[in-house]
Amino acid sequence: MLLQKVRIQGFRNFSEKLFEFSDGTTIVVGPNGSGKTNLLEAIYLLSVGKSFKARVEDEMISYKKGLAHTKGRVLYNDISTDLEVVLTRGEISGERAPKKRLLVNNTPKRLVDFASNLRVVLFSPEDLDLVLESPSIRRRFLDSVLSQSDYEYRRSLLAYEKGLRRRNRILISIREEGAPRTHLTFWDKLLIKNGNYLTSSRQKLIDFINDSPSLNETEFNLEYDLSGISEERLAQYAREEVAAGMTLVGPHRDDFIFKVKPGKASRRGRELVAYGSRGEQRMGVLWVKLAELSYIKSETKEDPLLLLDDIFSELDKSHRKIVKLATKKFQTIITTADPHFIKNFKGVEKIELKG
Ligand SMILES: Nc1ncnc2c1ncn2[C@@H]1O[C@H](COP(=O)(O)OP(=O)(O)O)[C@@H](O)[C@H]1O
Ligand SMILES: [Mg+2]
Repeated sequence: MLLQKVRIQGFRNFSEKLFEFSDGTTIVVGPNGSGKTNLLEAIYLLSVGKSFKARVEDEMISYKKGLAHTKGRVLYNDISTDLEVVLTRGEISGERAPKKRLLVNNTPKRLVDFASNLRVVLFSPEDLDLVLESPSIRRRFLDSVLSQSDYEYRRSLLAYEKGLRRRNRILISIREEGAPRTHLTFWDKLLIKNGNYLTSSRQKLIDFINDSPSLNETEFNLEYDLSGISEERLAQYAREEVAAGMTLVGPHRDDFIFKVKPGKASRRGRELVAYGSRGEQRMGVLWVKLAELSYIKSETKEDPLLLLDDIFSELDKSHRKIVKLATKKFQTIITTADPHFIKNFKGVEKIELKG
């Protein structure tokens, strides 16, 4: 699978631009604010159908425009596929319009069917948040990896999220209006069925990551802190859930913890967030991201596209080498603000963005 080109219109700071990519490595050079991350966001959107950073999707539409259009051409065994995402603010020239449309070869698709035509793995400086920030960031990571590699996961996740919203509303109506508990039965079953699929898939991914080779003498380990959902667990929390007006158990409460494996220095595993140096934390994240790359490849039997957003300046020499090795195996797009950076690479294509 190769991404040949992308055309972007009315997207963030791009009014209209065509990008063509090398089969190997393409380096995008431009000063800060020139749109490097925006370009990767557009590519990610064509892959996953969602942004990796926008909180509201119309954030991606250029300030003065009403419509953002991104279109990419993917080559897959000599067959080309056109992927498109069209975003609006809910109307175009006074007429109501869908806020987001996803198309494959001009045919509208649901999100669950759209997100399998282009697989990407993004490395960015914000990846450090995986170690440092809240559980929701780690759940989003699990979801993005598993959604990209498994249709059934995408379907279960959408069903679970929708079911969760419905069930929470019913819990509130039990509390406020004395609605009968039997209103929950259908949603309990739906959440248990889909939730268990999410849990077992996440366990499988975490096991895979834990089995992947360490990058140097420091060994890391992820500990899955899972919130299981079952009839027993729901029964156990029945009263508290009504009082809280929300579902208190299930994979929407999952987390995982980065640990440094016990070694010579200490006999107990240490939590990376509390005890790791910044360098160790970066290494832990890199270890997970490289495992993500091999997981997607091993599950889908396809090479994902590698997107590296200005990460080299943060890595030390040995880790730069490891990442550079990965760029040789996968189609890669690298962004950098440093015009001299390209000297480190041979035979790459260059795209310049103006400030
Ligand atoms: N919706 C938008 N419309 C127009 N410009 C935007 C929009 N969202 C962000 N930008 C602009 O994009 C620029 C940042 O682009 P970014 O891709 O983060 O730059 P880089 O990664 O090259 O440093 C900022 O100047 C910001 O004003
Ligand atoms: Mg950037």
